[in-house]
Amino acid sequence: MGFRIFKVYLVMAGSSLALVSAEPKDLKLFFQRTCAACHGLDGSARGLNGQKLPGRVLNDARWQGGKKDGELVKSILKGKGGMPSFQSQLSETEVEILVAEVIRPLAARKK
Ligand code: HEC
Repeated sequence: MGFRIFKVYLVMAGSSLALVSAEPKDLKLFFQRTCAACHGLDGSARGLNGQKLPGRVLNDARWQGGKKDGELVKSILKGKGGMPSFQSQLSETEVEILVAEVIRPLAARKK
């Protein structure tokens, strides 16, 4: 008897795990873990000790103003210059959200 109930719990736990993995990525966290190594946490292309990182500056409002979302999305998906392609890790929709909600605000927040 008790074992049957246990089995039901296992099935329930399994399906909630599947739900978790289908949830959208936390793209801010993805940026911090993956992109900040080259672009800095604040998009300044500087590390925590002020050292120059290999990525370009992303928090420059004038530079951002000259770039359409679509260009940035394409560069992130396909790669550009020294930047690798991210299309195996992120869907196009995820990159669009990353640009709108993580990269654009970097320039707005800069003082
Ligand atoms: C290995 C270092 C490296 C990593 C990791 C990296 N980038 Fe880059 N990124 C670069 C370099 C270098 C450039 C400049 C490319 C050029 O203009 O030639 C760049 C350029 C960019 C640009 C400007 C593209 C354009 O069209 O001018 C954006 C936006 C960007 N990166 C976002 C990201 C995001 C988001 C991530 C994480 C998913 C990321 N980068 C990870 C090195 C990196």
